Amino acid sequence: MNPKVIIRPFAVGQDEDAWVSIFNQVVTEFADGTPTTRAEYDLEVSSPSYDSKGRFVAELDGTVIGTVHAELDPEDPDRVGFMIPVRVLREHRRQGIGLALARRGLESLRERGVVKVQAAVRDENAAGRALLARLGFKPCRVMSWMRRSLDQLPELPALNPRFEIRAVPGSPDSAAMLLSLRNEAMKEHYNYRPVTMEEMAHWQESDDKLGIATFRLVAYVRGEPVGYLSFSIDPGGCAHLNRKRGECYIRVTCESGPYCSYHHIASSLSQPSGSDPVRSPGSSPGRMWRSPGLRLGVQSSASLAASPGREFSASLAARPGL
Ligand SMILES: CC(C)(COP(=O)(O)OP(=O)(O)OC[C@H]1O[C@@H](n2cnc3c(N)ncnc32)[C@H](O)[C@@H]1OP(=O)(O)O)[C@@H](O)C(=O)NCCC(=O)NCCS
Repeated sequence: MNPKVIIRPFAVGQDEDAWVSIFNQVVTEFADGTPTTRAEYDLEVSSPSYDSKGRFVAELDGTVIGTVHAELDPEDPDRVGFMIPVRVLREHRRQGIGLALARRGLESLRERGVVKVQAAVRDENAAGRALLARLGFKPCRVMSWMRRSLDQLPELPALNPRFEIRAVPGSPDSAAMLLSLRNEAMKEHYNYRPVTMEEMAHWQESDDKLGIATFRLVAYVRGEPVGYLSFSIDPGGCAHLNRKRGECYIRVTCESGPYCSYHHIASSLSQPSGSDPVRSPGSSPGRMWRSPGLRLGVQSSASLAASPGREFSASLAARPGL
């Protein structure tokens, strides 16, 4: 590695803008990469579970040219570290800087008593996979991303009359119910750990600050809440594509047997610039669907898609086996 390059800890109050800038330069190399903003960064690092230790930068002649974050989730009882992508500016690659950054991050985890670490990389990212392999990482899980238009949805089986789906307003009472549903539904999910009320409150506050509109539908069986869907539209997320991005999470608790499932639908909604932000369809009073799982997500997505003048597409990431 060029001896003029130094790897040093992230300096709070000094490196934030460089961190965001490197993220934005690297992320746009990926077709669906979404740049971030300093406001989003500030909200992320103020999360109650954000680990600000383990951040390192590569610096050349006083300029930051690479970053890594080897973090430890303070709420993780297993204390497994996670290496957030190493990022090196394109013009400085293949000189050993990525390896040096990663190595420093991994050492910092070890110094903190961590014995295992994970990292995630897209399958099509040959450089990222090679870097991790070179560091001794072994694949342990594969995720699938799928996409389809929401035109001509497939016919679904008849609705189950045992289900009742109601929109719930954001309130402290509903937050407690959603938290307990979320934690119950996610128990069997990879890397599960319960989310805390402080985190939920922080996410809600962040969404409010970023103007992300979210609505939630709760599924009841015989009056008992068994799962929920949250659907949000981020007005800024796809601004660089002149689009809005929506995300849909469906969580159904495991106790409901055949309805145990987890789906994540990320969607892009074309939006002519200058037009009004998309409003939450769930906010219309009395709106109700009787349907479990995926049907709920698809119907909700379709109702957004039906907004005049807008095209809609969705991608679905599901655990293998669903
Ligand atoms: C992946 C990335 C961090 C590598 O940074 P780098 O400074 O070029 O990496 P290094 O020079 O230290 O290379 C280390 C090893 O990674 C592998 N590697 C790096 N780039 C590679 C490429 N384009 N193709 C194949 N292997 C590559 C090689 O094994 C290399 O060792 P070698 O040069 O001795 O063959 C950089 O390409 C990058 O920032 N990419 C965009 C962000 C990203 O994908 N991050 C990785 C997610 S884990």
